[in-house]
Amino acid sequence: MTAPGRSRPTHVLANAPFRRLWTAMSVCSLGDWLNLLALTALAGNLTEGDYRVQSLAVGGVFVAKMLPAVLLGPLAGVFADRFDRRLTMVTADVARFAVVLSIPFVNSYQWVIIATILVECVNLFWVPAKDATVPNLVPKSQLESANQLNLLVTYGTAPVAALLFAALSVAGDLVTGLVPFFDGRDATSVALVVNACAYLVSAVLIFTLRDIPRRDGAISTPSVLKQVFEGWRFVGGNRLVRGLIIGMLGAFAAGGAVVGVAKIYVAALGGGDAAYGVVFAAVFVGMALGMFFGLRLLSGLSRRRLFGLAITVAGLVLVAIALVHNLVIVVMLTVALGACAGIAWIIGYTLIGLEVEDALRGRTFAFLQSTARVTLLLVVAVANPLAALFGVHEMGLGQLTYRFDGTNLVLVVGGALAVGVGVLALRHMDDRKDVSLAADLIAAVRGERFPAEAPEHVPGLFVAFEGGEGSGKTTQSRLIAIWLRDQGYDVVQTREPGSTKIGMRLRAILLDAAERGLSARAEALLYAADRAEHVEKVIRPALYRGSLVVTDRYVDSSLAYQGAGRALDPEDVSKINAWATGGLVPHLTVLIDTPPEVGLTRLGGAADRIESEPLEFHERVRKEFRALAAKAPERYLVVDGTQPQDAITRQIQDRVREILPDPVPHESEDATGTMPAIRD
Ligand code: TYD
Repeated sequence: MTAPGRSRPTHVLANAPFRRLWTAMSVCSLGDWLNLLALTALAGNLTEGDYRVQSLAVGGVFVAKMLPAVLLGPLAGVFADRFDRRLTMVTADVARFAVVLSIPFVNSYQWVIIATILVECVNLFWVPAKDATVPNLVPKSQLESANQLNLLVTYGTAPVAALLFAALSVAGDLVTGLVPFFDGRDATSVALVVNACAYLVSAVLIFTLRDIPRRDGAISTPSVLKQVFEGWRFVGGNRLVRGLIIGMLGAFAAGGAVVGVAKIYVAALGGGDAAYGVVFAAVFVGMALGMFFGLRLLSGLSRRRLFGLAITVAGLVLVAIALVHNLVIVVMLTVALGACAGIAWIIGYTLIGLEVEDALRGRTFAFLQSTARVTLLLVVAVANPLAALFGVHEMGLGQLTYRFDGTNLVLVVGGALAVGVGVLALRHMDDRKDVSLAADLIAAVRGERFPAEAPEHVPGLFVAFEGGEGSGKTTQSRLIAIWLRDQGYDVVQTREPGSTKIGMRLRAILLDAAERGLSARAEALLYAADRAEHVEKVIRPALYRGSLVVTDRYVDSSLAYQGAGRALDPEDVSKINAWATGGLVPHLTVLIDTPPEVGLTRLGGAADRIESEPLEFHERVRKEFRALAAKAPERYLVVDGTQPQDAITRQIQDRVREILPDPVPHESEDATGTMPAIRD
């Protein structure tokens, strides 16, 4: 046994009783997925011939599978509590075994539906009994690991089952002619027999599990519908969460549409049950790929943007799936679809985990899970009848005929919905409104983790002043701050380095002329550290309050002094600063461009560490400042620093006035008169 606390999820498997239960759960999950595939396939096969009947038949299986949980879920939870858990599970397993085994014998559609409902009702006892047993078998500290493992097998077995189903269908085709029992039966019979045996294996495993206490403590399972209504009251008020949930449900619904109509669609493309299994597996394989690689590949992209984008692309892929009538391409597109859905899900989950406060998080997840179930039920319940209603249409295109049937329609509608939801999410949650999505994407694919970005969409206004030594920017930034305050704005005037507690200590190190030994990289990192603190503690909070922030120096100073002046790689300096600031870029940067020989002579007092650098150093700095401004003229104002002070002030005011936030303040007189004599 491992020490509790810092254990990895798999360490809980060292616990023999839990391992046995977990094995039983894995086998059951595998059986459940096989069951879903085999029964939908069987329903399709039993009603082959009439497209409409077939669509309805497959839809019926999905509805039969989900209805008991939605309607009777809480009831069964209460019942399960009154019985011995081990016996409940064993009995349920044996019952499931018997019912599933009977399906190939009876071989009728009615029995498929009745059997499905019976199995699901039995599941309603099995699942709460299992859930209640887990805490009996594992110590509290490992409960989370145990839950993770449960989730892993619940979904992880799906692609395994899908591939197994594909293999068993092929075997089923071979066996029907060879083995007397299977003679004349449906090709899904083999899969159903294997499915039934899985429940039997679980029964044996649990029967021999002696550590389950008879019963203790109540399991309360609130009704799904109640969870949905109550949950919405909590989450509906939060804009971000609302966007996330709508997006995630949209992605879920799109996936549901595919799963719901897959059997019929695959059949229309000439694929059999094996192909159905492969398409099903493709969704899950894609999801896994999306979750693991998609995020890594696009790690530079804003999460919120990626979320909306993934859903939009999923929608487009879905439309393509509907229109391309080629099984191989459909399978490939399905992997892509799964990848997009996987990306959206994992981002949604992570964002909820990060941005929803503790007290609400549990409910948000519960809400999400219950709404996901209801959404799936609705989608599947609507998808197949809609497909049946539409029927099959063939369009003649010269020699060729193009088939467009209800399944295609459902997929197109599902795709269009997903595109709509995705675009909505992109609009609703975009945190980088001023950067084009294309530019962002290109940067992300190229692996530029921190692309240069325009100001975030914040209520405030962010103006930076830059310039060389003695350029006059400190004086000007103060004058502008006074001018803005006079107009009634809330202004935060600040500077770098040294505007926070930590920043002051960093400033002392940085500017201390005695610290001659400071290496260029350490210097760059210290400035970036000061800036990170400055952004987090001062600038960003002020911007979010809607204040106007005027800073004396910002990232460009590092690019000029450390990048060009100290000859570090400008890319590196840019990256560490983008990381330090979280990508926050000023709305406007005012560069007061003064030749160093003029600026340096303006300085009084002892030169600090940087001021005492040679003239060439300052030349390089000036050149870099000008180059930065030339690269993005829309975000810069370059003023000639050799002009008289009030001429400079006027030019800056004219430009700032253009970008002042609403309500546009009345024209005010230029700030003149009080000219604080501040050394630059
Ligand atoms: P400060 O006394 O504030 O001077 P100034 O009035 O010129 O702004 O000192 C800031 C010094 O730090 C200045 O010489 C430039 C340098 N510096 C950098 O080298 N990199 C940076 O990122 C920043 C913000 C400043």
